[in-house]
Amino acid sequence: MAEFALPANSKIGTGETYKAPGGAKNIKLFKVYRWTPDDGKNPSVDTYEVDMDTCGPMVLDALIKIKNEMDSSLTFRRSCREGVCGSCAMNIDGTNTLACTKYISDVKGDIKIYPLPHMPVVRDLVPDLNVPYAQLTSIEPWLKTSTQPPTRERLQSPEERAKLDGLWECILCFCCSTSCPSYWWNGERYLGPAILLQAYRWLADSRDEAKGERLDQLEDPFRLYRCHTIMNCTKTCPKHLNPAKAIAEIKKMMVERTI
Ligand code: SF4
Ligand code: SF4
Ligand code: FES
Repeated sequence: MAEFALPANSKIGTGETYKAPGGAKNIKLFKVYRWTPDDGKNPSVDTYEVDMDTCGPMVLDALIKIKNEMDSSLTFRRSCREGVCGSCAMNIDGTNTLACTKYISDVKGDIKIYPLPHMPVVRDLVPDLNVPYAQLTSIEPWLKTSTQPPTRERLQSPEERAKLDGLWECILCFCCSTSCPSYWWNGERYLGPAILLQAYRWLADSRDEAKGERLDQLEDPFRLYRCHTIMNCTKTCPKHLNPAKAIAEIKKMMVERTI
């Protein structure tokens, strides 16, 4: 893993150091990004000495311990603690991932924790996700039909249902979109891998009857075609999904409908 170093002209300062209680023998250092946008101060990195003998195994366990025992002002999102809600996504040791499924023991040396990259920061490790959620709304992520179903349910064969595997598991953590250089530079106009995977989830659903309309909505130099197959998204996805492949499938559908 490449060592993350701040550029020399970085405005991020060295913040406070919080000591573990006396007598702790098994200490790990957590270096955590801190910023409150409206307090007039530059961002800083605070250092927390965490006693590993009294801490759970995951990075989220350490953050909760820090908040409970050392510094109640530390701010981050979390809910499920088991990798299904997507709220604890952050940049740990240089990679976007989920704090609740990232083992502390997988990181050699100090653990550096930053918010998801290139998003406005609400506070500390909490990114502002208003733009990606508005983009999610724009793709209308629900089943759209215009015909009456032949029975009370719209049935799928096992093969049709299998086409949704690798798509429905997405937890909308946005680790992928915030690792994508195209999304960094054009995030207001390019939908990014998380939302495009969602878009493909409905395009791939045999029951959906709005494929043409959905493809029309994506046919745009920015919304879809800013993906340059850099593959950061697939590399970083903590659920081991493949958003780059989903994007390629949408592009294939675009070509197929013109021939
Ligand atoms: S493959 Fe596309 S979406 Fe994924 S990181 Fe690269 S440019 Fe972004
Ligand atoms: S594709 Fe993976 S990284 Fe992207 S939002 Fe879904 S679960 Fe998160
Ligand atoms: S707390 Fe829900 S995914 Fe980590």
